[in-house]
Amino acid sequence: MSKAAPFDMATFLRFDTVDKKTFFYQVSTIFAAASIVYIVGKCIYNRYFHPLRHFPGPVAASLTEFYLPWSFYFGVAEHVTDEQRHARYGSITRKAPNVLQIDDPELLPVFNNRTTHKPKRVYYSPAWGVGDVPTILNQLHPKEHQVARKRLTPAFIGTAVKKMQPLMQKRVDEWIEKSWEYANEGTAIDWSKWTQSLAYDVITELVFGAPIGFVKTKTDVYGVLQQFKQATPYIGILNRLPWLVEAIWKSPLGSYLIPAADTPLGKIFSVRDRLLQERLDKSVDKPDILSVLLKGVNEDGSPVSLDVIKSESFILMAAGSETTFSVMCSFTINIIQHPRVYKKIMETDLSPENLAQEDPQFPYLYLAIKESMRLMHPAPSFFPRLVGKGGVTLKDGRFIPEGSEVAMNPYCVLRSKKIFGDDADQFRPERWIDSPPEQLALMETYNPIWSYGRTSCPGKPVAEMELLMAFRALLLNFVPEFANPEKPWDHITNYGSLVYEGLYIKLKPRVA
Ligand code: HEM
Repeated sequence: MSKAAPFDMATFLRFDTVDKKTFFYQVSTIFAAASIVYIVGKCIYNRYFHPLRHFPGPVAASLTEFYLPWSFYFGVAEHVTDEQRHARYGSITRKAPNVLQIDDPELLPVFNNRTTHKPKRVYYSPAWGVGDVPTILNQLHPKEHQVARKRLTPAFIGTAVKKMQPLMQKRVDEWIEKSWEYANEGTAIDWSKWTQSLAYDVITELVFGAPIGFVKTKTDVYGVLQQFKQATPYIGILNRLPWLVEAIWKSPLGSYLIPAADTPLGKIFSVRDRLLQERLDKSVDKPDILSVLLKGVNEDGSPVSLDVIKSESFILMAAGSETTFSVMCSFTINIIQHPRVYKKIMETDLSPENLAQEDPQFPYLYLAIKESMRLMHPAPSFFPRLVGKGGVTLKDGRFIPEGSEVAMNPYCVLRSKKIFGDDADQFRPERWIDSPPEQLALMETYNPIWSYGRTSCPGKPVAEMELLMAFRALLLNFVPEFANPEKPWDHITNYGSLVYEGLYIKLKPRVA
């Protein structure tokens, strides 16, 4: 028997003497095997040993966090998937290994209270306006959130909103004037785009200090609306995989998350920066949200930085427009589909004199808008919260440990039969006044149209005023009709907000 050659450590350690192909093959095989063992082990842990294993849900949701982006992007629209999951698995379902989702309105205060933190995935949402400057939406800690909130609140109190009314009226008047051009031509209007144009012009007037001009030019200026539409699916996916965004954000690739100057969003940033600079140079005091942002101070009384103002104004633009135009579409659909409601609205006082009053009354129109938001919530998305110290023990004895995430989708909560009645799936504005008093109280208490608790929407008074003004003017001038009554819209997408694709509306001049 021949003797084996003696082992030569020096040769072994010299990389250039080893067959490189074999070496890389072996290393990648070991790496792949280790990854498979890790992933399988993690899935087994998530399914059989994780503290949330007792909560029912789809098998895939219990195995991996990738179920979140999958159900968001590849499933039917997320609100539909969520509704189906609740119907099958009950009020508390597992949406990812460490994420539960609730649709029981009475559980909202348990997971949305003064001490509740937002989970890290919210911080790493790539929705920032300027580099690494978190906006109010990204503040995880209640204290920091409160500081950001305090800065914004003066913009949304009654007197401030009332002063913004003429600015909004100008935008609505322009929208109606241009709508007349469509009506006279008999054009079928792409309603999503047209309502989006109004919403963006109103909000940029309020937060940048001037409208971008979508309505005036009847075009998608700089292609911004299209870019928003293209970006939202990716933002949604990344928001559901925060560790991935965190890794990208902290790597040299992070700079790619900030839109370059020649992209549509980059152009919007330059417009915003220019308008902001003009405002600073001329020290104009307009009754808009930008004025409030400019007067904002930090906790120690020092003025907020320009970057914070830029970030906040950008996020206000996104938060205040994508939601509002979605409601404009759902409301239009609802009144066309419910002639009874339309007739009843038209019998109420929609006159300008009424609007000019200190406290204008549009009760039925208001109820119809509110009901549209309830039934087709404009942001039927994912609002996760972190379970705090000590965890939460549910009434049935099940325990949700600290660090778990509990989310709600307003679309599902707002269709809860327990709170909104057996006809919760129907469009019936009267429910907000004729339901039994105890039920009415529950409906108002557990109503997440504007979210729930300390993160609820500060823009509510602005949005309500805008919606009332726009619909009042629209309905006094035109009778909206579906251009294709057989198939009024093509499909509805949900990448965070509901968009009615291919919804074409014809405006018939109204004969008073
Ligand atoms: C129909 C219109 C609107 C609806 C349904 C709506 C709904 C919501 C919801 C559900 C949230 C909660 C998000 C969360 O809990 O994480 C929210 C937050 C917010 N909304 Fe609105 N919104 C609307 C319009 C507006 C407008 C017009 C503005 C501003 C002018 C605005 C500004 C904000 C801001 C700044 C936040 C973050 C609040 C915080 O984190 O404290 N929204 N909105």
